[in-house]
Amino acid sequence: MLLSLVALSLLACPAFAATAEQWRTRSIYQVITDEFALEPGAVVPECVLSDSTWCGGTWNSIRENLDYIQDAGFTAIWISPVSQNYQGPRTAYGDPYHGYWPADIQQLNEHFGTANELMALTAEVHRRDMYIMVDIVINNVMATSLTPDLSSYMFKDQEHYHPYCPVDYSNLTSEQQCWLGDTTVPLPDVNTENADVISQYSSWIANLVQTYNIDGLRIDAAKHVHASFWPAFAQSAGVFCMGEVFDPSVSTVSQWQGPQALDSVLNYPLYYALQAAFTLPGPQNMSALTSVLSQSKAAYKDTTLLGNFLENQDVPRWHNLSVDPQSMYNAMTLGFLSDGIPIVYYGQEQSFSGNSDPYNREPLWPSNYTKTTAYELMTTLNTLRNFLINTTDWATQPTNVLTSTDNGLAFQKGNIVTVLTNIGSPPQNFTQTSFQSPWPAETIAIDVIACRQFVAASGGYIGVEYTKGGVPVVLADSSFLVGSGLCNATLGLQDGSQGQTIVQSFASRDRPLTWLLTFITITISLGLV
Ligand SMILES: *[C@@H]1O[C@H](CO)[C@@H](O)[C@H](O)[C@H]1NC(C)=O
Ligand SMILES: *[C@@H]1O[C@H](CO)[C@@H](O)[C@H](O)[C@H]1NC(C)=O
Ligand SMILES: *[C@@H]1O[C@H](CO)[C@@H](O)[C@H](O)[C@H]1NC(C)=O
Ligand SMILES: *[C@@H]1O[C@H](CO)[C@@H](O)[C@H](O)[C@H]1NC(C)=O
Ligand SMILES: *[C@@H]1O[C@H](CO)[C@@H](O)[C@H](O)[C@H]1NC(C)=O
Ligand SMILES: *[C@@H]1O[C@H](CO)[C@@H](O)[C@H](O)[C@H]1NC(C)=O
Ligand SMILES: *[C@@H]1O[C@H](CO)[C@@H](O)[C@H](O)[C@H]1NC(C)=O
Repeated sequence: MLLSLVALSLLACPAFAATAEQWRTRSIYQVITDEFALEPGAVVPECVLSDSTWCGGTWNSIRENLDYIQDAGFTAIWISPVSQNYQGPRTAYGDPYHGYWPADIQQLNEHFGTANELMALTAEVHRRDMYIMVDIVINNVMATSLTPDLSSYMFKDQEHYHPYCPVDYSNLTSEQQCWLGDTTVPLPDVNTENADVISQYSSWIANLVQTYNIDGLRIDAAKHVHASFWPAFAQSAGVFCMGEVFDPSVSTVSQWQGPQALDSVLNYPLYYALQAAFTLPGPQNMSALTSVLSQSKAAYKDTTLLGNFLENQDVPRWHNLSVDPQSMYNAMTLGFLSDGIPIVYYGQEQSFSGNSDPYNREPLWPSNYTKTTAYELMTTLNTLRNFLINTTDWATQPTNVLTSTDNGLAFQKGNIVTVLTNIGSPPQNFTQTSFQSPWPAETIAIDVIACRQFVAASGGYIGVEYTKGGVPVVLADSSFLVGSGLCNATLGLQDGSQGQTIVQSFASRDRPLTWLLTFITITISLGLV
């Protein structure tokens, strides 16, 4: 089975298929190096967001705080760009604490540490069986005038850049050849059709990836470089590449995935659709979401490699758009349990609520790294997804919508059924989502989030009521969950607590499943659960 999966994906994507195959199973925590953690003993900086300046995070401080990420079940990190940035005086838009203002990319950014410290970070990530994805900026450099001194960049000749023009966002050629930014902080556009540029970029990326043992790349502004540049570049990199194509349309974004472009793209169309469906107040437009799911299925080369997210350094935090916590929990659950690689932007688990840049780049330390409800939900979703990936071919199974209404959505991927709602936190006695599950009547299904039990009715129908508010529900056949580490007490797998005394007498983990199922059925019919 594994062999045939590998063979299939080799056919689909010849250059670096094995690596894309490996990333498909991962779950990514995105970090802005400057904001994630302070070094031990550091004086806590004031870190005023509107100042747009450095707050003090480093590669060392990420390395020292990986437990916080790994304990939530993430199997990869994505860090902000590591290359040298603009060195001059503070600009009208502040300092390059974010890393997206490249100068000489052959050098590392000394604000974040030394080459040895970056190597120590990747070594520690690998020791934990995690992957590291590094953000890179290829499309442009950064300047403070329209006639910058080219000697400060890796590319030093005029012909290595497209001539200045302001971007016309209705014209793709203009988006790819003109200069992003503005006249205060222009971003001179590298001429990625130039043969010297192509060859220097190719050796630069091979060297960066190999020197620091990088497992994957996130490519900034990938849409702003002609797609034909990417296959050879990615081949030189030799690792999985996920491009940023900042656009709500599936038909546009999907053009950037495949052998003519990149392995993967960030799933911006899903990001917008999740907002349309779940933000409160908001349009509560569930069909905008089902429409993107079905368009995606038809248009992308491989939906299971897309990067699913709710927040990043360029968009407002979810809670700036929607304060209801359940709106985020439901939207986030979709990103974890439908096709694609889940990505969580640092601070989402702390329900940060800043608006656009720079207010969405808050330092994480004031949160005290508290294990919040959102953090626990991410942990549960990662635990389930990691278990599914370890034990089944879940990652490559298709997502199928079972039902959708104005307020409810149920979908299946592999042997998991996810039931979501956009009604928000207030309990609603008379609202429910009902759907035909894939399970025969009388199957016991467990909601892995609340460890509640559901029993499939005649025809496999299950109804989820929202008497405790609009919580996400994630259902698995109870027999399948044995060994997942989830809902142990509900499954009768270890000492229960809070009055589940009958469960305690069935504490053996080795008990045959038939016994277990009989037991659960009996407790339900006795009305004990
Ligand atoms: C699109 O932009 C390119 C590059 O600036 C320009 O040469 C071309 O004329 C533009 N096309 C249209 C239709 O405006
Ligand atoms: C919901 O989204 C769909 C698809 O994007 C759109 O056609 C429809 O007009 C939207 N409905 C409302 C009420 O906004
Ligand atoms: C949205 O962000 C802005 C700027 O950070 C802030 O002033 C505002 O209070 C935020 N709104 C919410 C609902 O958090
Ligand atoms: C973090 O800890 C500090 C010091 O104990 C406390 O003042 C602050 O309120 C805490 N912040 C959060 C979000 O728990
Ligand atoms: C998945 O399998 C790997 C390798 O056998 C193991 O290290 C890891 O703990 C497993 N994870 C889960 C969630 O089962
Ligand atoms: C839901 O029903 C229960 C039991 O009948 C009742 O106590 C509760 O107030 C109702 N809640 C709402 C929001 O109607
Ligand atoms: C569930 O049981 C497994 C072993 O069966 C154990 O490793 C895990 O820690 C338990 N989880 C909880 C939440 O009790």
